[in-house]
Amino acid sequence: MEEKNLGVIFEGFFSYRKGSLHVEDTGMQELAMAHDTPSYIYSRNYLLSQVSRIKSAFEQVDTMICYSVKANSNLELLKIMRKEELGADVVSGGELRGALIAGFPPGKIVFAGVGKKDEEIEFGVSRDIYCFNVENEEELSSLEKYGRKYGRKVICNLRLNLDIDLDTHHYVKTSRKETKFGIDTVKAEEIIGHSGRYKYASIEGFHLHLGSQIKEVEPYLKAMEKVEEFNRKIKFNPRIIDLGGGFGIPYSVRDKVIDISDFGKSISSIVKSMGIEKLILEPGRFIVGNTAVLLTRVLYVKRRGEKTFLIVDAAMNDLIRPALYGSHHTILPVAEPSAATPSIKADVVGPVCETGDYLGKDISVPADIKKGDLLVAANAGAYSFSMSSNYNSRPRPCEILVDGKDSEIIRKRETYEDLWKAKI
Ligand code: LLP
Repeated sequence: MEEKNLGVIFEGFFSYRKGSLHVEDTGMQELAMAHDTPSYIYSRNYLLSQVSRIKSAFEQVDTMICYSVKANSNLELLKIMRKEELGADVVSGGELRGALIAGFPPGKIVFAGVGKKDEEIEFGVSRDIYCFNVENEEELSSLEKYGRKYGRKVICNLRLNLDIDLDTHHYVKTSRKETKFGIDTVKAEEIIGHSGRYKYASIEGFHLHLGSQIKEVEPYLKAMEKVEEFNRKIKFNPRIIDLGGGFGIPYSVRDKVIDISDFGKSISSIVKSMGIEKLILEPGRFIVGNTAVLLTRVLYVKRRGEKTFLIVDAAMNDLIRPALYGSHHTILPVAEPSAATPSIKADVVGPVCETGDYLGKDISVPADIKKGDLLVAANAGAYSFSMSSNYNSRPRPCEILVDGKDSEIIRKRETYEDLWKAKI
């Protein structure tokens, strides 16, 4: 079973104590009794420790770390990031409003996105956010228009597509030339060549987000080298480089763990050598990814021939990553299996009417697992609640934040009334 060496993903913030899984000093069993299931359970101190790790990895250069709100936009979590003095990376008018409600100073908000609407651009300019990561020339014209309207300079970084490949799922590679993201260097040269026509939209750097769940530093370094070459060619000195996010996390105890301080050293040294004034980073998954689990209860154990299915009360609408990307999430029983209990392989599936509705396949579970037992799907802090839906008219889970022995509801469980309120 996967509980061996859980420290790789849990860093000690989730652990078995007296035979039962705990988050910090709080038992999952008690949380399930108090809040029912399915529920997302977050460790506040794990989150803080990830924030401090990434901050110290990049302290050798002037770095603005903008938490990528899309990974998890829970307002209480955003407030924690803001108190830790992070900025915010947003991709929509909704995320921008969320960041402002959470209290992020506009001067620490960066706005990316391949399809910003004029009203979103205007809202960002009117709030005087730090910069826009620009995806095409028409967008620059809109930024110029609203810069003029509000009488202010708008900092713009051109998002480059440098055709860099990554060893990650093809849905989360964003820097290959066949993807919709960014502009190529030919177009970028042309835009910079006539940047004199813009009075308010000021091109000050480049945005290079490469993709997600990246475990090697080389693609980042390669991207910076390509940019350096390009700068030399067109004699442009960018003030800002926004490297985007993408720092990967382990999803199982066998996965590679990146050393973020090594990443920090290598990236900072190239930033210095290029004379870049400001580095922007947009980490999402690295900060929140492993700081939460989805707590769920076994509804039925179905045995058919060789096959065992654990039908649990969490489903693809709550956590879509396995169905969408075939992602692996570590699944563990809350009651610690004794060494003497044999294990069996089972598919952990939800109640949604789709064959793709599973949390894990061929998962080792104790042979005596039964109705009512609790399980967790780990690695559920990033792109988990934020990608949840009401498919099959299922109300979304609550979110609980644990701090030592204390816990608080940071998002209420949806009710059936919530499901229909927009429709009547
Ligand atoms: N900046 C930009 C412009 C992005 O598009 C993204 C993620 C990030 C930052 C944050 O990347 P991170 O540090 O979290 O890797 N739903 C997928 C991941 C999609 C990532 C989208 N963009 C998943 O569940 O794996």
